[in-house]
Amino acid sequence: MNLTTVPVPTTTAIAVATAAVASTPAAVPSIAGASSLTLEQNTRALLDHACAQVLGGQAAAAFRLLTPPLSALWSEARASGQAEAMRRWCQAHPLHALVMQDPFTHRAAAKPRGYAGDAVMMDYIYDGAPPAGTSAVGAEVFGATTRAGMGLSVRYRRQLLRSLIDDAVVRHERPRMLSVAAGHCRELQGSLVECPGFAGEFVALDQDPLSCQEIAQAHAGHPVRVVNQGVRELAGGQQGGALADALGRFDLIYSAGLYDYLPDVLARRLTRRLLAMLRPGGRALIANFVPGGSGRGYMELFMDWALVLRSEAQMRTLAHAAGAAHVNIFADPPRNVVYAELWPEAPEVL
Ligand SMILES: C[S@@+](CC[C@H](N)C(=O)[O-])C[C@H]1O[C@@H](n2cnc3c(N)ncnc32)[C@H](O)[C@@H]1O
Repeated sequence: MNLTTVPVPTTTAIAVATAAVASTPAAVPSIAGASSLTLEQNTRALLDHACAQVLGGQAAAAFRLLTPPLSALWSEARASGQAEAMRRWCQAHPLHALVMQDPFTHRAAAKPRGYAGDAVMMDYIYDGAPPAGTSAVGAEVFGATTRAGMGLSVRYRRQLLRSLIDDAVVRHERPRMLSVAAGHCRELQGSLVECPGFAGEFVALDQDPLSCQEIAQAHAGHPVRVVNQGVRELAGGQQGGALADALGRFDLIYSAGLYDYLPDVLARRLTRRLLAMLRPGGRALIANFVPGGSGRGYMELFMDWALVLRSEAQMRTLAHAAGAAHVNIFADPPRNVVYAELWPEAPEVL
């Protein structure tokens, strides 16, 4: 999925664009009458074409060509009150059964832990290997869905977090770091926290007991403390204050893959709490997927995976509303994720 901003073309423009890239003209049969195509006809033509390409062993090309126009059609459907109808067209189309062979798409839709985007799905992206038993078609689609724009951004996010951890380890004498909604905390792998000389503490907090177990097992020999708690508990009133006190103060606090699920009020309250948990000179980092992405259509229509998307401006507003004195906003290279780096007071040295 590529969440970079794309202009939203009309259905006519989409049909014409699809015709231009179609390798087999028969795969997009309705192009001749493009100007009179309905949203439904355009959607079906697009899905037919993607289906033919996947069946022809070209899953990567299929997804490259499918995702931007599907997102544009999805925007049009939502704007014109046809969202439910478009969901039905997609679910009834043969492409749907085909992509459900992809473990990544299937797990998002099935939600075995109650929500899409759990830590196992993140591992699919990090590892890039489909689980044993995946069909040949499923493996091809898996390659396309986990190695597209969103996958690249998730992989970049892990590298960035590992660099931040290393930076905190060398900057502070006994560094304390907190990952909020840690998942499997794969960014710890290969970080300086795993080095024998590390004299600080890393705290990983997550609501999911299975993810907590995985972190505890993977880092049994390291100073990594696992806290099985939800962020609502941490953000809320007196109880949140008590939990924050029990966790202590930190040089680095970050949260990746969480804010995309939080409504504004909770996001603000949690950010305020995290800022209060920093040691002097400490910083926090929060990440969020941005709106206008070309992968949104596939995610919402086939994976049943909807995120709370925030722009750079919205992240800045959130950071200031939570009381940050100094904010640095930046985007990842594929421009899918925005990062807000926050300080409770203006830092002397960045
Ligand atoms: C997309 S994963 C991200 C995991 C990890 N940070 C990463 O970047 O790979 C989201 C994680 O957030 C956790 N999570 C979701 N809602 C939460 C909440 N309310 N409190 C604590 N953890 C939460 C989930 O259990 C899951 O492990």
